[in-house]
Amino acid sequence: MNERREAFPALLARLRPECDAIVAQYEDRRSALLPLMHLFQQHEGFVSAEAMQAAADMLDVTPAVVESTVSFYTLFYRRPVGKYVVQVCRGLACTINGAESVMRTFREKLGIEHLQTTDDGVFSYEEVECLAACDRATCAQVNLEFVYDLDQKQIDDMIAAMRAGTYKTPPMAQTETPGKTWHVAQLPEISKGRQAPGARGTESPNNAGGVGDKVGEIMLDRIIDLGLAFHGDTRERAVKQARDVVKLIEEEEKSGAGH
Ligand code: FES
Repeated sequence: MNERREAFPALLARLRPECDAIVAQYEDRRSALLPLMHLFQQHEGFVSAEAMQAAADMLDVTPAVVESTVSFYTLFYRRPVGKYVVQVCRGLACTINGAESVMRTFREKLGIEHLQTTDDGVFSYEEVECLAACDRATCAQVNLEFVYDLDQKQIDDMIAAMRAGTYKTPPMAQTETPGKTWHVAQLPEISKGRQAPGARGTESPNNAGGVGDKVGEIMLDRIIDLGLAFHGDTRERAVKQARDVVKLIEEEEKSGAGH
């Protein structure tokens, strides 16, 4: 981490002309935020706290504005990820066409779960909502490039090619060794200890999302109370996945591996 922190000013100096050119394209400089974040992610493999601070300085906005934008989009990673980020669609059209079996195959063959990275740092795996390619279900993205009409043989071929480094989509830049998960609730460097009411770690145990609801269980129950259709298995699985991720974050924070 320290090595990378030291390397960031050099990266920023190298990218500065490109950053300036991007910002100059827009009447309102704040519009350059997403392209700038893509640029940093392309070179760092994720969007670091330093990159968010640099963007805030360039665009004259607060770091909180940058972080809230970055955390909104699942296509930005706030911690280092594997060389290949596999995002399998679990939307309705894909589910009807066999997404459950596709997801199970990826999980079993990679030996990881939703929002996890393999120990060798090659694969990160995530199950995502509709990728807007429903006519080609079941589908996925690898490093944000689409893969359509997935079947078991295709999955085997994809995994083998990624392991061999010969997959058609190039690997992500990897400037730092990834941890077990890249999921981040909130970066303390950016938030400087401030948290929204009801956020993880706030003194509001009975609030949905508060300390008593680390995995969002209360929030899910509130959704069910509203009378919205929420299949029992889906709730159980969502809670289990969230619980696994919270456990990973806590383990990493305890071991000092968190960033
Ligand atoms: S449901 Fe999978 S792309 Fe829409």
